[in-house]
Amino acid sequence: MKYHRINEIKKDEFLGKEVRLRGWVYRLRKQKDKAFIILRDDRGGIIQCVLPSSSVTDLTIESSLEVGGTLFKDERAKEGGFEIRGNDVKIYSIANNDFPIRKYQSTELLLDYRHLTLRTRKMITIAKIRASILERMRHWFIENDWIEVTAPTIVKSAVEGGSTLFPVKYFKDEAFLSQSAQLYLEALIFSLGPVWTIGPSFRAEKSRTVRHLAEYLHLEAEAPWLTMNELLSIQEKLLVELIRHITEHNKGELEFLNQDVLALNKATGPFDKLSYSEAIDILRSNDMKIQDGEMIRNIEWGDDLNIDSEKVLTKDRSNPVFVFGYPLQIKPFYVKEDPEKQGRALSADLLLPNGFGEVSSGGIREDDIALLKTRIKNEGLNLDSYSWYLDLRRYGSVPHGGFGMGIERLLRWIINLEDIKECVLFPRTMARLNP
Ligand code: 4AD
Ligand code: MG
Repeated sequence: MKYHRINEIKKDEFLGKEVRLRGWVYRLRKQKDKAFIILRDDRGGIIQCVLPSSSVTDLTIESSLEVGGTLFKDERAKEGGFEIRGNDVKIYSIANNDFPIRKYQSTELLLDYRHLTLRTRKMITIAKIRASILERMRHWFIENDWIEVTAPTIVKSAVEGGSTLFPVKYFKDEAFLSQSAQLYLEALIFSLGPVWTIGPSFRAEKSRTVRHLAEYLHLEAEAPWLTMNELLSIQEKLLVELIRHITEHNKGELEFLNQDVLALNKATGPFDKLSYSEAIDILRSNDMKIQDGEMIRNIEWGDDLNIDSEKVLTKDRSNPVFVFGYPLQIKPFYVKEDPEKQGRALSADLLLPNGFGEVSSGGIREDDIALLKTRIKNEGLNLDSYSWYLDLRRYGSVPHGGFGMGIERLLRWIINLEDIKECVLFPRTMARLNP
């Protein structure tokens, strides 16, 4: 038996033809002899089906069924003016009559039932854009001659500081969930050259914010003999291409989410550049305060940029901006010091415009073993856990660098949604481990 997908057949060339669809009841209106069913298929396609009421008496929302019928055009039909008139119905399963996802449900309820919320058009749309980003990204790396690798998720040591590590009981030992594949990518550049990976990273973030997940999808890339300018250019080219692809390929989805395609298309590069010192000046002239222990005080040179600072720095921009020249002490142990500016990091964060903030962090890595050891110790980390990493500096160390980009952070900006939990199918946060 040939089955059709709804989005394939909503075309004039199918008018009058026999079609056969499988899916779920999205909306339902029963009259005396006719029933109007809005059917959703397994790619989120939606079409009205008009069936004899007698054939669907028990039907409820989200019941699964198969419908055979003829395609007609009817101005009154919801969802694009096409409708199927049929009498051939096969019911797979009658759903319980209390499907919890309805219009105007609370955000929390929708999250509690995320396994069912994924059937809503909003979530289907978001999932499709997410898939497009991943698809285009993989092709972009292949086209540009980067090799895809994978790194372990159970690890022995911290990359991004000890405070956000998730411990894992590992046989008789203690291990952690990986915060970043970076150190492994650094090992791979010696034999594979430019490498990249996409995989989950874990952060035991103890704060509830709209842009932190406990598990997120992390794109990371690393290459030997990379300069800072090349590193920025790679991120810029990748991002511009992803935006171009999404605005072209997912136009319908973006429109469904009311996202302004033109606004996104303004980010065509070159991206803006802002030094950390300039950023601090802007923040001070905006009277930015930060929390310092128990105290609230004015931001000063030497403080890290938090969500609020990044909001101020990006709210009036339409172009992404690289922030560079951070003080070395607020960056992780592996970041190289700028040889031309003492105390400054040879790294940059990329901030997304319209208030969204950091999407990636990257930089050149410290390749001097003595400096690296001191930095690891100063961060309070256990040097023994990094002995393999230090070998990379012992045996043919080369200048190199890379970056890491958060996929949900990127998606959050592309679809203009405040809460990062909307950008992942099954969110993990401090307050949420289920479903
Ligand atoms: O800035 P981060 O911590 O940098 C690293 O992990 C580097 N080792 C990456 C590298 O150079 N290979 O994380 C990189 C990006 C951030 O810019 C952000 O987009 C995302 O990962 N990210 C998160 N996304 C969601 N939830 C969280 N808790 C995130 N923490 C970081
Ligand atoms: Mg960062």
